[in-house]
Amino acid sequence: MARPRLLITRRLTDGVQTRAARDYDVEFNEDDHVFSRDELLERCSAVDAVLPCHSEHFSAEVIGALPAGLKIIANHSVGTDHVDLDAARAKGIVVTNTPDVLSDATAEIAMLCMLGAARRGAEGDRLVREGKWSFWSPAFMVGRQVTGKRFGVLGMGRVGQVAAERARGFGMEIHYHNRRRLDPAEEKGAIFHDTLEGLLAVSDVLSLHCPTTPDTRDLINADRLAQLPDGAILVNTARGALVDEDALIGALTSGKVFAAGLDVFKDEPGGNARLAALDNVFLLPHIGSATFETRDAMGFRALDNLDAYFRGEAPGDRVA
Ligand code: DGY
Repeated sequence: MARPRLLITRRLTDGVQTRAARDYDVEFNEDDHVFSRDELLERCSAVDAVLPCHSEHFSAEVIGALPAGLKIIANHSVGTDHVDLDAARAKGIVVTNTPDVLSDATAEIAMLCMLGAARRGAEGDRLVREGKWSFWSPAFMVGRQVTGKRFGVLGMGRVGQVAAERARGFGMEIHYHNRRRLDPAEEKGAIFHDTLEGLLAVSDVLSLHCPTTPDTRDLINADRLAQLPDGAILVNTARGALVDEDALIGALTSGKVFAAGLDVFKDEPGGNARLAALDNVFLLPHIGSATFETRDAMGFRALDNLDAYFRGEAPGDRVA
């Protein structure tokens, strides 16, 4: 029987690509460039399945233009905001994601962002790297200690729960807001707030772990930033669309927010030059899940979903 034809849109690990080539008739993106809309559609025209990353945008318009032969979009990401799930459902295209396997790596990056922001990591690194470190005093580069402070988790899903666990290691008190309250075994003593406002008021560090939806776009706006304790720290390792970046710049400039640690931005790749101009921001280029272990696990999970689909079974991580 002919093997299913699969488009893999970006460069994945050798182990993942080798397994994919063993089981599928694969079209790779040899130089790992970002496809334009037209190239994405053209390359999807001759395959049964596509394994994309969050860099490929399957808007309702793109999904409408996909050929009838494309049966499944098996994402190499837990986030699916780059795919219009309603449009996929309407067209009968199955969509899957890769939950669980990137929770540890992303929670690690949340801790890096928290500490980088609290302890002025970017500023200090730049000073030494540029040969400009010519002064030291007890009053030099003083930051915020996180030990014993309150860690607010917005979105207590898989990543949020691991981030909370890591923050406990710093002796932080965990608070969270989530659509549903967790059961006590999952909560592990974390304090539930049934409103976002309740969480904001107690978050010395606010860490975002919720998906982007029409309801959460620009959720962290000027009004909500104003509700944080003075000198709070904002950490975003989820999606840039959750934060009104102009409002954040205002809060960072006024000192209302002491610092921010950001791995994600509204515009990616690239980021936000006005945020980057501020000393009190620790910036990373969307590398939350970028570890060798996690990239393998994400790729294998996406392939597991494809394998199940082509065996005629329900893929474990079906989201549409
Ligand atoms: C995810 O899995 O959603 C990460 O942001 C990488 O795409």
